[in-house]
Amino acid sequence: MISSFIVSIGKPWRTLLVASVLCSGALVAAAADAPPIPRLVQQDGRYALFVDNAPYLMLAAQVNNSSGWPGVLSKVWPAMADLHANTVLIPVYWDQVERKEGEFDFSVVDALITGARSHQLHLVLLWFATWKNGNQHYMPAWMKQDPVRYPRLIDAHGETVDSPSPFGAATLAADMKAFAAFMGHLKAVDAQRTVLMVQVENESGTWECPRDYSPEAQKRFAEPVPTAVLKAMNKPAGGSWTELFGPEGEVFFHAWAVASFIGQVAAAGKAVYPLPLYANAAQRDIMKPSSPGNYGNGGPTDNVIPIWKAAAPALDMVCPDNYNTDTAAYIKALQVYRREDNALFIPETGGSPRFLFFALGTQAIGFSPFGMDYTKDYVVPEGVRPKDDLLHPWALTGTHKFLAPWIAGYRVINPMAREIARWNFEGKLQAVAEEPGQVTQTLSFGAWDVSVSYGVWARYARPAGNPQPIGSALVVQLGENQFLVTGFYSRIDFKPVEPGKHRQFLRVEEGAYENGEFKVVRELNGDQTDGGLDFIAEPLVLRVTISAY
Ligand code: DGJ
Repeated sequence: MISSFIVSIGKPWRTLLVASVLCSGALVAAAADAPPIPRLVQQDGRYALFVDNAPYLMLAAQVNNSSGWPGVLSKVWPAMADLHANTVLIPVYWDQVERKEGEFDFSVVDALITGARSHQLHLVLLWFATWKNGNQHYMPAWMKQDPVRYPRLIDAHGETVDSPSPFGAATLAADMKAFAAFMGHLKAVDAQRTVLMVQVENESGTWECPRDYSPEAQKRFAEPVPTAVLKAMNKPAGGSWTELFGPEGEVFFHAWAVASFIGQVAAAGKAVYPLPLYANAAQRDIMKPSSPGNYGNGGPTDNVIPIWKAAAPALDMVCPDNYNTDTAAYIKALQVYRREDNALFIPETGGSPRFLFFALGTQAIGFSPFGMDYTKDYVVPEGVRPKDDLLHPWALTGTHKFLAPWIAGYRVINPMAREIARWNFEGKLQAVAEEPGQVTQTLSFGAWDVSVSYGVWARYARPAGNPQPIGSALVVQLGENQFLVTGFYSRIDFKPVEPGKHRQFLRVEEGAYENGEFKVVRELNGDQTDGGLDFIAEPLVLRVTISAY
């Protein structure tokens, strides 16, 4: 059946005239006037994800592992609406896509895409394939039942481990073929660019041991360290993995093997449809590096980012799944992954909702708390569940309280997500959040210093900090003497850098961005500004014009 129809994927995206062909349940579309393929753009050391030719902030959320099925999507979309997310991260399961070897069924992918479009959402699809949390649980059953052709990894004692060998040639060939078919399908059905990026595998690596000890792996481990690794890690030629890297040599070898595998899968897909691709990493203890063997060895952890960059150039990013609850560790993970050669995207997170502000302040192109749907499959450990929910009591209207803590920040940022992405790309934005024991912070904006004081304020009281760290602030310099400010549980004020000068407010406008324009609701003065600009639990965005006297 052939039909023509108009597809609108909502503001600010354009309306497209799409000619479609429906065949065997699969939606195949070709756009007359397709938006460009989403792409990462780097400028002056800063990155943006360009969607429809402009920077786009993925104010995202990741669903639970088993929520990518048409039958439960009705429990996904309302959660995204309640959260004010603009992008959803949803898995695509290799075992479903290729139930029979060589036969691909993308009907579930089509349901994700059409569902997202009808809810004005973008998608990041997660290719759960050879690796998922270090295991191979998403391999098709015909592969799981043929361990000789599709081998598991062997540990140092000769035991089989529930993790795929990165040297399985047939596994690699099968994954490359399936991933290329998947990307080809996206290219065919998604001229509207509902899908922004694809994650290749999920938290790859191996928890149980540092590397593969199969005969093939042993042979490769004895070979000279590849030149690309030497270059990436700044090492001279002429030593074994262990001689050059000490005890970490085994993990570095595994990282090289896993990254080379995933890099080839990524390249096979990218050759078909060049969407931005990334791999995510289960973090090791970034403050106190663990010894080999007790983290996702071989995955793109902080210690092997250069190896991954060298081994998998088809990946645009390696990304931290940032479940740190310790503030310093959380910030460090952001800083380590934001590199000259790596845009920062946080595909999974938990902890405190104020961490969104740390991410924006580190120029993240996207941020995505995990487990955000209404299936009741909430599996994020208690330790990383946000505890600040009672501090946003007005938000506790949803069925599931775990969603609620994130709503306030998402509600503030969502209407101006495009502007935030652009301001960050242009280097005009700074965002911070409260750290334990920290009462004030100063941000520098040329002729103005901006002070952030944490705590709930009485009019002329001194800053005291909040009872627990929940404060945040985001400041954008719109012009020489004009700023946009927002935040929670903090007071923001301005001071001229020039000695002896003071600030005066010329205009403090409360409002919100609507389709790229700041719409003023009212002006604040008197009690609302005399002591500084106060942000409490309610979303509040102010455009502030000041001068010095
Ligand atoms: C990290 C994984 O990447 C997710 O798929 C999920 O398993 C979460 N852990 C659960 O906490």
